[in-house]
Formats: sequence, C-alpha cells, structure tokens
Amino acid sequence: MSSYFTEDASAEVVNARIGPRADRRLAEITTSLVEHLHAFVKDVQLTQAEWEVAIDFLTRAGQICSAERQEFILLSDVLGVSMLVDAISHRRPPSATPSTVFGPFHVEGAPVRPLGADICLDGKGEPCLFEGTVRDLDGRPVEGACIDVWSDNADGFYDVQQPDVQPRWNNRGRFLTGADGRYRFRGIKPTPYPIPDDGPVGRMLGHLGRHPYRPAHMHFLVTAPGYEKLVTHTFVGEDAYLGSDAVFGVKESLIAPFERLEDADTLWRSPYDFVLAPADTRDGALPRPTTP
Ligand code: BEZ
Ligand code: FE
Repeated sequence: MSSYFTEDASAEVVNARIGPRADRRLAEITTSLVEHLHAFVKDVQLTQAEWEVAIDFLTRAGQICSAERQEFILLSDVLGVSMLVDAISHRRPPSATPSTVFGPFHVEGAPVRPLGADICLDGKGEPCLFEGTVRDLDGRPVEGACIDVWSDNADGFYDVQQPDVQPRWNNRGRFLTGADGRYRFRGIKPTPYPIPDDGPVGRMLGHLGRHPYRPAHMHFLVTAPGYEKLVTHTFVGEDAYLGSDAVFGVKESLIAPFERLEDADTLWRSPYDFVLAPADTRDGALPRPTTP
C-alpha cells in the first residue's frame, strides 16, 4: 500500500504511521478510533462547512472549561458515553447495587455528620428521611462504610452552583455505618433540574430537540475497605423525566420508594439498601495508555 493519502485507504494510511515502539494499548485505541472516525466521516459524507462547525463546537467547549466546569465530560454524558464506560468498568454481580454517572457536583471532604443528622442547611424543600443498610453480597451488614451524599436544593441547584446564595455544604454530608450496617440521614426530597445548559452542549441539545433535565435523584458514593467503590444515585419514582434523563443515568433498580409520612417534621421517607461487591482484583489489569 502506498503511504500517500487516498479517500479509499484513508484510515489505513493514517494508522500505518504508528511506530513499532508505540505504547500497545494507545496504538490499539488510536487505530480503532481512526477507523471509526474515518468510517463516520464517509458515512455522513461530512462537508467542509460541517467540519468547521464541529471544530468551532469543540473550541467553544474547551473555552468554557474551568476548574468548576467540564464541558467535555458533559458532552460525554449527553452522548451516553459516560454511562457506557461506567457499564464496561463496573460489571458487577446482578445482586450488587448498580452504579451510575458521577456528575460534576461532588465535593471532596464533606462534613462527617452523626447518623440521623440533617444535611439540608437552607431550610427549603420537603424534609425526607433517607435510611437503609449497607450489605455485602451474602447479606451481611458492612460496618464502617462511608456514605457520601449530595443533592440539589429545592430550587434545583447544588450549593457549588450558588456559592453566594446557599450555605456551604448545603445538602451534603458523610455518614458512617455502625456494626448493623445501617445509615440514616435527613435531607429533602430531591427535585429535577437541568444539567448546565448555557454552553455549547446545551445549545447542541436544543438543536437536537432534547431537553437538558435530569430526574430528581440523591447522589451516593459508598466506600468501605475491601469493597468496590460504589458511585450511584437513588431516583424519585414517578418523576416526569425518569424515561428521558439527559445523561441516561436511570436504572430500574435505583428507583427508590419515597413514602409520604404523617410526621409533622419529616414529610417523606426513602428506604434503600446498598449491596457492595468485593474489591475488584482486576483493577489495574489494563495498561494505562501513556501520552506520546
Ligand atoms: C448530576 O447528576 O449531578 C449530573 C450528572 C451529569 C451531568 C450533570 C449533572
Ligand atoms: Fe445530580
């Protein structure tokens, strides 16, 4: 094969340039990427003008990125790639609690609060008691599991989106399970909200006739020594957006009960048990691609 570029042999010509000392995994990924990318360009017969729109889109996505904003992850989220990578990376036993998308609003180091404490600091929303047990695959309670939780407030914003409006650590906290594996905290029944849609990804959704909303959910990051880290949410059943989550994060078994209580202080109760899989000994089995 000639090394000159032709339309027919485009991907082969590009891939033939990879050198013999290239990192094997990087070469594998790049070869496949080039094959699929060239096939895609040929499939849609991409025009020069459309290519320029794509370059402009990527440029604007890069320009809006900051320490607080990651437009490329958002792009991955709305294209379903984040959920696909998560599914491939966390093939857990069916009885373990499934994972879902992490999202951009987790903050490291939330206050560790006593079991039963209230994470809602702005007094807004419908008070809700979240409680349950963390277990292993054999049903044994997991002691000392850390339940890191975060949710939006009643107006649909995380505290980090409104640093001048909401108290720091509003609707966030960490809780440690006791010997019975149980956790318990108060928060609010979460509300649906739009993903950040004031940038190129939001505009793209608009052009595609897609809405930017996520169904109401509570985020959970559950960790315990000897167990695989679990990044997940529980979803409020009957939410209008359950079937059209902008980032495809909903899984049937993550839809939790939200029971109405008669209690004057706490309007709702959401019981949910987590089942952790043992730590994945395959971690690190795949070589990490290095940059050239
Ligand atoms: C979230 O649930 O916090 C989220 C997930 C993906 C994109 C934006 C927000
Ligand atoms: Fe969220």
